[in-house]
Amino acid sequence: MTKKTLSAVQAIEKAQEIAFAPFVFQATNALRELGIFKNIFSKRKKGGASITEIAKDLNITEYGIGVLLEIAASSDIVLINDNDKFELTKTGYFLYASETVNVNFNFTQEVCYKGLFHLTESIKTGKPEGLKELGNWNTIYEGLSIMPRNIADTWFKFDHHYSDAAFDEALTTVLRNKPKTIYDVGGNTGKFAIAACNTSKDVQVKMFDLPGQLNVALKNVKNSGFEDRVSGFEIDWLAKEQVAIPKGADSIWMSQFLDCFSEEEILSILTRLTASMDENTELLIMETFTDRQAFDNAKFALEATSLYFTVLANGNSKMYPAKVFLKLIDKAGLKLKEDLQIGEYHTILVCKKK
Ligand SMILES: C[S@@+](CC[C@H](N)C(=O)[O-])C[C@H]1O[C@@H](n2cnc3c(N)ncnc32)[C@H](O)[C@@H]1O
Repeated sequence: MTKKTLSAVQAIEKAQEIAFAPFVFQATNALRELGIFKNIFSKRKKGGASITEIAKDLNITEYGIGVLLEIAASSDIVLINDNDKFELTKTGYFLYASETVNVNFNFTQEVCYKGLFHLTESIKTGKPEGLKELGNWNTIYEGLSIMPRNIADTWFKFDHHYSDAAFDEALTTVLRNKPKTIYDVGGNTGKFAIAACNTSKDVQVKMFDLPGQLNVALKNVKNSGFEDRVSGFEIDWLAKEQVAIPKGADSIWMSQFLDCFSEEEILSILTRLTASMDENTELLIMETFTDRQAFDNAKFALEATSLYFTVLANGNSKMYPAKVFLKLIDKAGLKLKEDLQIGEYHTILVCKKK
């Protein structure tokens, strides 16, 4: 961001907003959970809703509605009109109705909020110190298949919201040379493997993931009727004893996977995958890079996601700028063949062996 000139009053206002940011966030969460946003929105054509009306409709005290709406009005989430009734502002409308905002909001509240308290500690130790708020694992990925269902669902909705939207366009790229065998590294829930099988009638997919997650993915594949074309390969890329990566892939696909690792770990993963490739194998990396975003707002969301990696996921990874990946690709013995923009947020780097 370039240097902005704020007046002293504006600057202290911004500082105060930050000092009380969790209050505004939790008040907004209560307004959503208690149905107050919905109630106000439903009365938008009737001149808004008074505190007394909302309290009666929702069976909540006027005191409770009042304290929430006061801070919401000061935060430009609702406004009070000339008849003393509340309406949603544009920001309030997006908090109520935008799918992307709600996916991010739920992720912050349900997955990250308690863990974020431990951020300073994580910066000092390089470990995801906030993860203990969710369970006793070294990384969040070990817990995904066993953590409380509602928290895991929110995690998956956040992850899938960004990758799903890009999969259709990405598949056109992945399948354009008619690969017979694709390795899906970080297969997750099997969504990509299933989409690939639905799009191409003869492609075979081998999903690579941690054992717990791979089980879930293989069950989903079976339920979709593709168990003959999709197999699994159990792997922990961080294990001290390194298993050899089988040869035989025409394409190696990694979507939103390498950002789960530190630069050093990414280099090790890419080097091991490169060793399994021949001169025809394509390695495709799909990521949301911080230096490839059209809007500051998207870059901001990625920077927040980096802090999730720091405090909850693994303590040492982040959302990277593409320039870091270009350097690591080169170091791992790969050359960049294509650099493609996919949808609004994603980039695919198509690589071959040098
Ligand atoms: C952010 S998800 C990406 C999922 C999917 N590819 C997508 O685009 O939505 C990262 C995946 O990498 C897997 N993963 C994380 N750490 C791993 C490790 N150490 N070894 C193997 N897989 C790992 C996780 O289990 C998860 O399925």
